[in-house]
Parts: sequence; structure tokens; C-alpha cells
Amino acid sequence: MASTPSEPTSAAPTTTTTSDSTATMPPLMYGTAWKKERTADLVYEAIKAGFRGIDTAAMTKHYDEAGTGEGIRRAIREGIISRKDLFVRCPKTLLAWSTLQSYLPSSPDPSRRGKILRLGISNVHSVSLLDVLPGVGVVQNRFRAVERAWDRQIRSWCEAKGARYQGFWTLTGNPSIWDYPAGPAVFVQAIADGAGVSCAEAWYVLMMERGVVVLDGTTDVGGHMRGDLEARGKVAEWRGTEEGKHVWGVCWEKFLRVVDSA
Ligand SMILES: NC(=O)c1ccc[n+]([C@@H]2O[C@H](COP(=O)([O-])OP(=O)(O)OC[C@H]3O[C@@H](n4cnc5c(N)ncnc54)[C@H](OP(=O)(O)O)[C@@H]3O)[C@@H](O)[C@H]2O)c1
Repeated sequence: MASTPSEPTSAAPTTTTTSDSTATMPPLMYGTAWKKERTADLVYEAIKAGFRGIDTAAMTKHYDEAGTGEGIRRAIREGIISRKDLFVRCPKTLLAWSTLQSYLPSSPDPSRRGKILRLGISNVHSVSLLDVLPGVGVVQNRFRAVERAWDRQIRSWCEAKGARYQGFWTLTGNPSIWDYPAGPAVFVQAIADGAGVSCAEAWYVLMMERGVVVLDGTTDVGGHMRGDLEARGKVAEWRGTEEGKHVWGVCWEKFLRVVDSA
């Protein structure tokens, strides 16, 4: 697995969907960063495989917004989805915050009302900033142990305010959990073995079950893309068995102790 470059760490508010979409935010979203000239094809393949949430941005150093649009249009043209079924995140700058607010469903201006369903912010590590920005509905941050202590404070803020928390660097930023030299953490491995998924997939499922919206930028169309989408269903099926229910319960407690205990 290649390590991925980081985006600027400044807080950048983001809009998350547009007027002609009524889709809700799915627990696993496709991340389009660093795909360059492959962006359109990979976005198309991701939608074809079953992703219904797409994360893009206007920062040309990291994203190809036009390519993302092209991939989406191709999928719509082929009848794989309609626009209203797709949840799209597209960031703007912090300066635009108050203007963007006027497009929320609560806007007093009927011509703007509801063109944006949620406003979000990324790379924010201060609860006080969140407290002074009105209408934050999404926070997109690094979800990792090192440096951010699993972003506990920010996740708690989101839970208290009803905002969604989106996590990136979930695999590359946490090698100690799922890929340390001696092998993955025992509870991740136990879920993977029981449910017949890979350790990375088991890790994704644990985060999703905890309410983290996972950003997944896989380029492995035939393998990881489908595997990541199918993993939650496989784990749910296994949890329906007596043994699966028991093993999951033990692993879940361990997982919560890791990511939620100070
Ligand atoms: N707001 C921000 O500042 C910010 C910063 C970073 C990222 N993001 C967003 O988050 C998205 C995700 O970025 P990320 O940095 O978390 O990393 P990522 O692009 O998801 O890539 C992480 C690595 O995970 C691998 N992977 C995925 N599924 C796997 C599986 N089942 N088994 C093994 N490996 C697997 C990928 O390899 P393969 O290609 O081989 O599957 C890739 O090398 C980005 O595309 C972007 O949309 C936002």
C-alpha cells in the first residue's frame, strides 16, 4: 500500500451535496485525490462497483474535479445511477462560508434554499473553531492514533451536534493497528478470520460501525474496491451466527477501548 501525500492542514470548509441530489451520506465514500488522469475512469468504476458517495475538491494539486464530473456523467449516461442517488462533497474556501450558508435548507431566500444540504469543514483540530462557525454539518479529518488521539474531541463534538465525521488516512495513518510488523491487531485479525474479509476491510467495518464515514481512495478496481464495499455485509452476516456474535462482541469492546478511551 503506497503512502499518500497530505493536503494543506488549513481548515477548509466544504459543501457536501447539491440541489438535485436527495441522497444521504453513505458510510463509505470514494475519495478522488491523487488519481490524476485516471480520475474519470476510477470514479466511473467506483460508481459501477456500488459507491454512492464521492469526495472531490477544487484543489488541482490533489484532485481532478473535471475528471470526477466526467466519471459521474458517464455513469449517469449508462443508467447506472441517477444524480439524485449520488452524494458528492466539493470543497470551497473558508471565505465563502457565509455565502454558502445562504444555500442551506433553512435559508430565508427561496431561490437559494436547499441547494446545499450540509456544510462541512476539513482539517480542523479545534473545538472552539467549530463552536464559532455556524451550521457545521460535516467534519472531515485524519482519523489516526498518532498525533490526533483518534480525533476523540472532534468526534465527540460531532456526536453532540449531530454532525457527521468523515475520516481519511484510516489505513495509511494507522499501520500500528492493522499492519504492524508482527501482523494486525488481534481484534482486527479475529474479525477478518471470522467474517472472511481482509484485515483492512475489517478495520473499515469497525470504523463504519462506530459512525465514522470512511473515505476510501482505492485504485484496485477488481479487488479492494469491491471488497471494501462488500465487507460490511459479510461481517453483518457472520455476526448473525452464534460464534460471530460472540467474537464480534469481544472485538468491539477492544476496538472501543482503543479509539474511544482517553
Ligand atoms: N480533506 C483532506 O485534507 C484530505 C486529505 C487526504 C485525503 N482526503 C480524502 O480521503 C480520500 C482517501 O485518502 P487516504 O489518504 O485515506 O488514502 P486512500 O487514497 O484511501 O489510500 C490508502 C491506501 O489504501 C489502500 N487500500 C484501500 N482499500 C484497501 C484494502 N481493502 N486493502 C488494502 N489496501 C487498501 C489503497 O491501495 P489500492 O489503491 O491498492 O487499493 C491506498 O494505497 C482521498 O481520496 C480524499 O478524497 C482528504
